[in-house]
Amino acid sequence: MTHSPLPRRRFLALGGVAAGAAIFAADPASATSAASNDRITLPGYAFTLGVASGDPTPDGVVLWTRLAPDPLAGDGLGGMPHRVVNVRWEVAEDERFRHVVRRGVHRATPDWAHSVHAEVHGLRPDRVYWYRFRVADQVSPVGRTRTAPRPGAALQSLTFAYASCQAYTDGYFTAYEHMAREDLDLVVHLGDYIYEGGGAGTIGRAHLPATETFSLTDYRIRYAQYKLDPALQAAHAAAPWVVAPDDHDVENNWAGDHSQPDTEPDQDPAVFRLRRAAAYQAYYENLPLRAASMPRGPEMQVYRRLRFGDLLQLDVLDTRRFRDQQLTDQSLRWDPKRQMLGAKQETWLLAGLGASTARWNVLGNQIFAMEADHTDGEPETFGMDTWDGYAAARQRLFDGVARRHVENFIIITGDAHRSVAADLKLDFSEPRSRTIGTEFLGTSISSGGNGTDMDALGVTWLAENPHMRFHNSQRGYQVCHLGRREMYTDYRVVPFVNAPNAPVSTRARVHVQSGRPGVAHVSA
Ligand SMILES: [Fe+2]
Repeated sequence: MTHSPLPRRRFLALGGVAAGAAIFAADPASATSAASNDRITLPGYAFTLGVASGDPTPDGVVLWTRLAPDPLAGDGLGGMPHRVVNVRWEVAEDERFRHVVRRGVHRATPDWAHSVHAEVHGLRPDRVYWYRFRVADQVSPVGRTRTAPRPGAALQSLTFAYASCQAYTDGYFTAYEHMAREDLDLVVHLGDYIYEGGGAGTIGRAHLPATETFSLTDYRIRYAQYKLDPALQAAHAAAPWVVAPDDHDVENNWAGDHSQPDTEPDQDPAVFRLRRAAAYQAYYENLPLRAASMPRGPEMQVYRRLRFGDLLQLDVLDTRRFRDQQLTDQSLRWDPKRQMLGAKQETWLLAGLGASTARWNVLGNQIFAMEADHTDGEPETFGMDTWDGYAAARQRLFDGVARRHVENFIIITGDAHRSVAADLKLDFSEPRSRTIGTEFLGTSISSGGNGTDMDALGVTWLAENPHMRFHNSQRGYQVCHLGRREMYTDYRVVPFVNAPNAPVSTRARVHVQSGRPGVAHVSA
């Protein structure tokens, strides 16, 4: 992505983040003391951004909405008055809410853009529920969600979709219309939920604000624009989501406390941290995350573990905040000191994988873990933003997986705007080396525009990287079906995104058998 120098006006706006940081570091529930009541009059329908649920456990989910009667208001606050507003929520066993089983009130504060993150407990495991919100005399759309099965409960099957990379300017979110019609237990989103750049694109979906996002106000307006998309709203309302940010949710290719090299003021790590605080806050405000993931300034707990009966352990990774900076010299990629996850997360991950009793152990990962030589013949060249730029850290992970005999190790990944299914090798330079798992790299929802079935890079990848078993470069999403003896991933693709109403089809079904790491076979 290209960047223009940061106009002074935008730089000054970053100062607003610093001032705001003092406020949102405080307990949000006590940060605003204004009285609240249910007789508030709002300037319009408050639930314009839809509803969502997330991070299911056996006894509950977190329910999300954000009040925004004027969602694109220039101050980023959605047209809401500057006061606390009580939002009522209810959960029912049926779509018509005849059997409401839980209800409560959430205090939506202006400090958090009147977002609601209501954590519901006391639900029954492994069943579908419906939820909705009320404020004043208004009722939200109805969402459908599902609790997780009890840990260890014998589970025959589970179906989840995953997606990433939804540049609004590049295409329509038609893939989400189709995803919303699938029968899913869960959706995993692996980042690039928004793109931070300005730009108008070529299909009439110009970014708001028109310039790159730096301040909290900028990010809030950008999220409101994305959340207004009806296809995205439909996919959120259809199933619980588990989300994690990648680079564009903050800024392209950021690493730790470092921006990508460019001419913006956030070359200063202190300024970048302010920008990340703004981006994280807006991310949290707009997604169904639990309080455990509520950002504290530039810190946010992204990595976490979810369990679904005895069938799935899902470890969501944070591959941005603890990594070392990208290399410019790829010969240093085996430097053992270079971190991708950071020591603490790496220890947490390997301990959790070692202790897992789940049939399938899935990592929700942002940037691909397979090796990908980009060049025909010699020499080999690798991207420095993926695990290839952190080869020693990858080796530690793969060695740890092998040593712990982690059963049915699967990585799902976004970021690359193309689909690849690959065997994960203990030694990628030796095709006969042991396969320790399988990676499903999933394409983008819209980023990159229409795409094609095969392109030049895809030809090179398949030729130079024998562990890659399938490739496609169209837009879409993936549906993973986990069974006891087999799992498969359906690569669901749309033929175009530059206009609405594209149909969906399954480009390939890629199978993995339990107890046999790697791709078993690909069926069309
Ligand atoms: Fe992306």
